[in-house]
Amino acid sequence: MKAIAINGSPRSGGNTEFMLRKVLEQLDENGWETELVKVGASGIKGCTACRKCAETLDLSCIMKDDIFNDIFKKIIDADAVIIGSPTYFTDVTAETKAIIDRTGIVARANGKALTGKIGAAVVALRRGGGVHAYDSINHMFLMSQMVIPGSTYWNIGFGGAKEEVKEDVEAITNMKNLGQMINWLGTSLIPNMDKVPKA
Ligand SMILES: Cc1cc2nc3c(=O)[nH]c(=O)nc-3n(C[C@H](O)[C@H](O)[C@H](O)COP(=O)(O)O)c2cc1C
Repeated sequence: MKAIAINGSPRSGGNTEFMLRKVLEQLDENGWETELVKVGASGIKGCTACRKCAETLDLSCIMKDDIFNDIFKKIIDADAVIIGSPTYFTDVTAETKAIIDRTGIVARANGKALTGKIGAAVVALRRGGGVHAYDSINHMFLMSQMVIPGSTYWNIGFGGAKEEVKEDVEAITNMKNLGQMINWLGTSLIPNMDKVPKA
């Protein structure tokens, strides 16, 4: 089983990355193939609504001059997709929004290519607005026929400075539980992928 974690923070070694690594640790321990990629500060562009993906139907976006298509291939290859973002003015970062919009639209154009995959959102925040950012990620998963596992709280963690989220013990425990839930769900769903209803 494969999982990709996408970090929408421009900061390497920050709170979002720390939490994503905690989720992936659980999957690594259970034999998953995992990868963490960073879209923050990558120069990824937003969707231009050109709708060419609905004409080319080749599981790609016509804009080839950023990292989107490389990441989208990894998403298509993965059983679980974890998108993490810091909270910026109560929402996700611009780079996270770019990956959400382009992934959602290219997948829809190509026979709802995310159907049956597991999706999880992870959000870092200093003080407030994290649940709104969390919703922004989950909305794309939910209208892409993906399956979202619960954990013991919403998948948010508090911290301002890099890695401050380490002190948020409940958040770190929640990430561990999230990883375990993704593993359990993957073990249950993946053998039945051929039975997934395609709209
Ligand atoms: C432009 C900007 C906007 C921010 N807006 C919020 C916000 O609305 N709410 C909040 O709690 N924290 C806000 N923060 C703080 C970050 O969400 C917080 O530091 C987070 O831990 C950063 O995650 P990272 O270390 O993965 O980059 C903001 C930070 C920046 C740079």
